[in-house]
Amino acid sequence: MTQEGYDAMADLYATTLPTTYQLSIELHAVAAFVELAVECDGVTVDVGCGLGHVTADLVARGLDAIGCDPSAGMLGHARRNYPDLHFLEDDAALTRLPGDVGIAAIIARFSLIHVEPAQVAGVLELWSDRLTKGTPVLICFQASDEPGTPISFDHAVAPAWRWHPDEFSRILGDHGFAEEWRIVYRDSSYRFPMAYLLARRT
Ligand SMILES: C[S@@+](CC[C@H](N)C(=O)[O-])C[C@H]1O[C@@H](n2cnc3c(N)ncnc32)[C@H](O)[C@@H]1O
Repeated sequence: MTQEGYDAMADLYATTLPTTYQLSIELHAVAAFVELAVECDGVTVDVGCGLGHVTADLVARGLDAIGCDPSAGMLGHARRNYPDLHFLEDDAALTRLPGDVGIAAIIARFSLIHVEPAQVAGVLELWSDRLTKGTPVLICFQASDEPGTPISFDHAVAPAWRWHPDEFSRILGDHGFAEEWRIVYRDSSYRFPMAYLLARRT
């Protein structure tokens, strides 16, 4: 489990993207997720936590949160940024998160874009196996307006794919989750539409 792209770019990434949320709509999306997560027992997992800013925001909002990321370089920054928080070197499959750790909720912000589309179903199956009914998951991704197969795009750091929100909703539905809401937003500073998709374990 490595993320060479992010390992190589971690220092630059930390300098050029020192903040978490670029638009206020993102704050509202995460706040709505937190409202659901606080109702659930266990740890909220920030999948692909990168520099740790979102993990820290979740903790500041009252959640017991842990950040997981396969890039040792990104985790190094996260640990230096937030020495009191918990971070684990792990990828989206969460195989290193001990099985007896109860998961209250999962957020994956711009991280599942880096999982090959053919592997995403397997990740969702693993999550589904570990989560209890009603557990919220929030997925954030660069979206596509083209229905159907995800589209690879020239992400600056690592191979990445954009999903049509309907397709992501479908694959969630096929693997034990039901969409509750989504936000799709467009901004002139982004090349692509962006999506936040909230689903719950059924
Ligand atoms: C664009 S950054 C987003 C960081 C953070 N979630 C945020 O919103 O600021 C993408 C992160 O996903 C991580 N990542 C890449 N492949 C991954 C995988 N297979 N599973 C989990 N995270 C992955 C990268 O190491 C990187 O830290």
